[in-house]
Amino acid sequence: MAYGHGKVILFGEHSVVHGRPALALAVERGAEVTLVPGQPSLTTLHIEPWGVDVDTGGDVNVGREPLQQALKVARGFYQDDREFALHATMRLPSGAGMGSSAALGVAVLRALDDARGLVSSGELIYERSLAWERVFHGNPSGVDNAMATYGGMAMFTKGQPLTRVVPRHPVSLVVAYSGSSSSTKIMVDSVARQFEKEPERVGKVFDAIAAIVNNGKLALETGDLTSLGQLMTMNHKLLSGMMLSTDPLEEMIETAMAAGALGAKVTGAGGGGCMVALVDSPEHQSAVKAALVKLGKTVYDVESGS
Ligand code: PMV
Repeated sequence: MAYGHGKVILFGEHSVVHGRPALALAVERGAEVTLVPGQPSLTTLHIEPWGVDVDTGGDVNVGREPLQQALKVARGFYQDDREFALHATMRLPSGAGMGSSAALGVAVLRALDDARGLVSSGELIYERSLAWERVFHGNPSGVDNAMATYGGMAMFTKGQPLTRVVPRHPVSLVVAYSGSSSSTKIMVDSVARQFEKEPERVGKVFDAIAAIVNNGKLALETGDLTSLGQLMTMNHKLLSGMMLSTDPLEEMIETAMAAGALGAKVTGAGGGGCMVALVDSPEHQSAVKAALVKLGKTVYDVESGS
């Protein structure tokens, strides 16, 4: 079975596209891809639970063009005429800020390697998965792909090697899905337009987020959960100022805070998708989860070091 991790961005989404650092952790949920026995004449990919099928044939997979294109990109890395049928199981919501497309790309690339008895390096899988991701996002920073490939917790800056982050204590998070998905490409383009229009002001916002990322790393390393929570809330306010939050996300964040979270923010592209809240005890974790479930949200537990 080939695997790609999902991820949660703790700090630094969007500004990471513009060269600032982000801090993220992989989650246990991800994409799993297995080979289906047989010798198909095309490389095919079936994805559960989405009930989606794509292939590398000449006919357009109507409504699934980006996925078909991405599969062709992945297939194109192999200069042979061997074709395989792949079965993917996604344990992440799509368009929810948990890195589902990067996780799928990494798992597909590893499965295509496995099928051929190859074991590519992490660097190669990462680079190839970026080509996959570009089909969907146009201009990905690479943070999702790095987390999908390598797992764990790390600070990521575009074009630089990952810096591992080792938290002093395990970190407990509650991630909840707002119920509406969003397009990362549209949200990234919107921030890019704001930056183009007001480079000085928006550049300062990116710099402020970069300072939060660096302080967040310190708070993790020293086990200062109170500061960590405050930094998450500060990061959220700056993201919200770039119009990346929504009413349902705000309601979820308020609910999580009222139930005892130390901090909460949108995670990923925003405009929908997920929020992440920090908790300091199993009791608070249960209380925050229960409050969000009461709002009708789907909730995921995340522990650091997955
Ligand atoms: O929403 P997701 O899982 O696609 O996360 C995107 C993170 C961004 O910083 C918004 C984009 C990027 O390429 O880093």
